[in-house]
Amino acid sequence: MRICCIGAGYVGGPTMTVIARKCPDIRVDVVDVNRERIAAWNSDSLPVFEPGLDELVKEVRGKNLFFTADVEYSVEKADIVFISVNTPTKTYGYGAGSASDLSFVESCARSIARASKDGKIVVEKSTMPVRTAEVIKTILESSGYKFHVLSNPEFLAEGTAVRDLENPDRVLIGGDDATEEGRAAIETLASIYARWVPREKIIKTNLWSSELSKLTANAFLAQRISSINAISALCEATGADVDQVAAAVGSDSRIGSKFLKSSVGYGGSCFQKDLLNLIYLCEHFNLPKVADYWRAVVDMNAFQKRRFSADIVERMFKNISGKRIAIFGFAFKENTNDTRESPAIDICRDLLSECARLAFYDPKVSDGQILSDLGLSEGDGRVEFCKSPYEAAENSHAIVLLTHWDEFRKLDYEKIRKTMQTPAWIFDGRNCLDHRLLAEIGFLVRGIGKGNLA
Ligand code: NAD
Ligand code: UGA
Repeated sequence: MRICCIGAGYVGGPTMTVIARKCPDIRVDVVDVNRERIAAWNSDSLPVFEPGLDELVKEVRGKNLFFTADVEYSVEKADIVFISVNTPTKTYGYGAGSASDLSFVESCARSIARASKDGKIVVEKSTMPVRTAEVIKTILESSGYKFHVLSNPEFLAEGTAVRDLENPDRVLIGGDDATEEGRAAIETLASIYARWVPREKIIKTNLWSSELSKLTANAFLAQRISSINAISALCEATGADVDQVAAAVGSDSRIGSKFLKSSVGYGGSCFQKDLLNLIYLCEHFNLPKVADYWRAVVDMNAFQKRRFSADIVERMFKNISGKRIAIFGFAFKENTNDTRESPAIDICRDLLSECARLAFYDPKVSDGQILSDLGLSEGDGRVEFCKSPYEAAENSHAIVLLTHWDEFRKLDYEKIRKTMQTPAWIFDGRNCLDHRLLAEIGFLVRGIGKGNLA
């Protein structure tokens, strides 16, 4: 059996590496139109940072895992083709700012139709609006061959991709479960996952349930974060502590403790776009009340980011003009080099608009990426890139912690404090530091939802 995956990104690369590792008899080609990305996958410096990924790629690359830019050849040879391309929010025309831009998906479907010399199983791995499979099937079958389109959304989280892929909570496969042929196609894909995933974790549904489940899962996760972030504002007003509230609330087994960590706001390439897409679908199907319900989750996230940067300005005597501020972390979460929709982008823009000077340290994000995210050019005097958090903090008036990198918890804050301006502030946007200890050292400390601090 041969698999081809179109799209060598954060999902396609790690997912196919794990499939290749678990199925040595299957040849897996990962293809992409971006030749630089393919070259990086074939080098020692992979384009995606994920714990454990480098080692896995080294084990299988060149054996049964291949990265190539020859899309059509790999598609032609494959029995199963995964579509794992980006599905960003549309920025133009009908549905701009809300609907999914399906141009990359459509272009894949056309490549598959062009390259195929027989029928294949085509798998939607990308997150799609409900009923996209219909569109894909129509384009594919214009080739004259019979295709089976399956939906197999990916639930991995960045930073834990390898772990999530090797030991998923579930694998979801949607297909045409009303016909024997359709059920056989679902089983072909299921039998690949069954090599390492227990059968009871492989859920089979119809196509539309599968497509909608992916959007719904992300919406529920984002909603939990917005819910606890809404409560964090109330904690600050009342003297409660959001981490204590989250622990008390989350210990109810009906609620559960995960995804209740109050923060500076959720980021990442998917929550925002998938919520916007869900909202768009609700509006499209004339369900404005349902759309409003989910829009509140998005609005709360924007409010939380804005609230955090406004608090920094307010606390620092309503004036950060010309003040050096150390930014600890720029990635949207720990253990990834991804900055897409990172809350750090909006917060740093707010601070720059107040004329602050920013000194960045992130262990994995490149200087060029930060410049590009902030729309700045090299040599801009308002920003500086540092090799260590100590260097960033030196001479700063404040530390603003935006990513929960483990190393930030282990720093010598006593030493850092001595190199900073006074009063020295710490704004902990992830509530990951020991606030009491920092206050004892002499910092003025602000966390999220900590009504009891500074
Ligand atoms: P990405 O931008 O990292 O990668 C997509 C890749 O597809 C790019 O390298 C791009 O060059 C390539 N591509 C686009 N059109 C192409 C075409 N016609 N032919 C060949 N290559 C093409 O995106 P990603 O983060 O991997 O996300 C992919 C999909 O998976 C999205 O729908 C996303 O919502 C979903 N998803 C992402 C995550 C995540 O953690 N990033 C998790 C679950 C699901
Ligand atoms: C999320 C989902 O968790 C995955 O299941 C899904 O596959 C993926 O989106 C996707 O479709 O792209 P990801 O965005 O990689 O994964 O990372 P998360 O761990 O979900 O974190 C998202 C954001 O929420 C981060 O900014 C994180 O810091 C923040 N977060 C998370 C909180 O603020 N509080 C929490 O309790 C959890």
